[in-house]
Formats: sequence, C-alpha cells, structure tokens
Amino acid sequence: MSQREQPVGVFDSGLGGISVLREIHRLLPAEDLIYVADSGHAPYGAKTPEYIRTRSKQMADFLLEQGVKVLVVACNTATVHAVDYLRGMLPIPVVGIEPAVKPAARMTQTGVIGVLATQQTVNSPRLQHLIRDHASQVTVMAQACPGLVEHVEAGDFSSEAVRQLLKHYTLPLLEAGVDTLVLGCTHYPFLSEAIHEVTHGRMTVLETSTPVTHQLIRVLDQQDLRRVETGQGSVRFFSSKSEDAQHLISIQTLWQHRVELGLLPTRY
Ligand code: SIN
Repeated sequence: MSQREQPVGVFDSGLGGISVLREIHRLLPAEDLIYVADSGHAPYGAKTPEYIRTRSKQMADFLLEQGVKVLVVACNTATVHAVDYLRGMLPIPVVGIEPAVKPAARMTQTGVIGVLATQQTVNSPRLQHLIRDHASQVTVMAQACPGLVEHVEAGDFSSEAVRQLLKHYTLPLLEAGVDTLVLGCTHYPFLSEAIHEVTHGRMTVLETSTPVTHQLIRVLDQQDLRRVETGQGSVRFFSSKSEDAQHLISIQTLWQHRVELGLLPTRY
C-alpha cells in the first residue's frame, strides 16, 4: 500500500471529535478514516496534564499500529497539553485543533469575546498565548464548563439539565457584553442549538472543525499524502469504553450512519 492510501487517524477523549470527523469526511471523501474515542477515560478536561499526555500517547500508538499516515488530535484539551509532546515523538505529521480566538477577535463588535472550554483548556498556557498573540485588543472571557462533555457522551444535547448548565455558563458572558462565542471543545458543537436557544441568538458562535480540516488538507498536500482516488473512503470506529448499547446509540446519533464499533485492546 502506498503512503497516500493509508488511513487518516483521528482521536478524541470521547465522541466530540466526531464533529471534526464529519467535516474531514465531507471535505476529503476519498480518505479512509479511523476514529478512536477514549470514552472509557473521558472527560479529559478534569484530569491532570500528565494523564492527558499519557492517554493521548496511547491513542496515538494504537492508531500508528493501524498504519495511519497522519494523526488529527480532534480534542482541544489533548491539543493544549499533548500536541507538542506527540509531535516530538511520532514519525507522522500531527494536526491539532485550536479555538477560533483569532477570527472571533476580528469579528466582535462589542470588543468582548467568550471562550467555552474544559477546565484544563482554560488553565493552559497555550490558550493564554493564543489570546496574547491574537486577541490582545479585545476582552476575552474564558469560561470552564464542567459537566457538558458528560452530557454529550451520553447523547444528551437538549435536556433541561443541559440547558440549565448552558444558561449558567453563558449568562455572565451575555451580561459582560460578549457578542462572539468560541467553542473551545469539540464536544460543544453538538450543543449549538441549545446554546442558540438559551442565549436567544445574541452571540455569533464559532467552532473549528472546518479550519482544522483545512489545516489537515494543507499538511497532506505539503507531504504529498493526499489520496488521489475519487469515491468514498471507509470510516472505522474504535472506543475504549465497553460496547454498551447507549454508547453505540450516541455514536450513531452523532455520526448519523450505522457504525461498526471495535473495542480498543485492553493494553491501551
Ligand atoms: C474533555 O474530554 O473533557 C473534552 C475534550 C475537548 O476539550 O475537546
């Protein structure tokens, strides 16, 4: 098999990265994709940076074993704490995901932008550097959102409990004049409708699955790794969580197609 024909590997702490996977599949339909959800260890957002790096390395090792030609870290928390570490040790290119702080800073009319993310992303020096380098002319309110990832993992995007949490996290932002909201966690795009509802459409919401896919395309083209065939590539799913029925239903709901789910070998 030539390198171009090898699959693209994508991982997330759980199911949120399916928001990125969908965009990769839409813009690069010929590529074979392998997605790994580390749902048995989600959420990463409340774990230590060391734990996040260890799990990220495990996910990368599994995908390397599957013969992937490039790795997409479809998880903001893993990107901020592990992308440089992975780049330093893997023999393949690694694409990370970055909250859309830069476009938000350009778009805001009020001069106040919000970022919703996990506690570990909010705490990370990488987010602080992004804000310093690209949004120093505006006020940035970074809001940690414990609990949201668990709802998405359970396939719950719109219950009263989710709406209450979202109100709790977004009301202070609205009161502070935020008009542009960055979703800094790949699980959150699945809550876009609920966010729109609880904020009464008063904020422009930005997510990053399209920019990260364009970055992947640039990397594939630069290294002459893009698959040239036309037609549909395959999509394979693996998870570190036991194959309980609800987990599979959540994946199918997010992916919107029938899914064959493989369990990650226990050594991972
Ligand atoms: C989490 O596992 O806590 C969320 C992952 C992300 O930041 O995208």
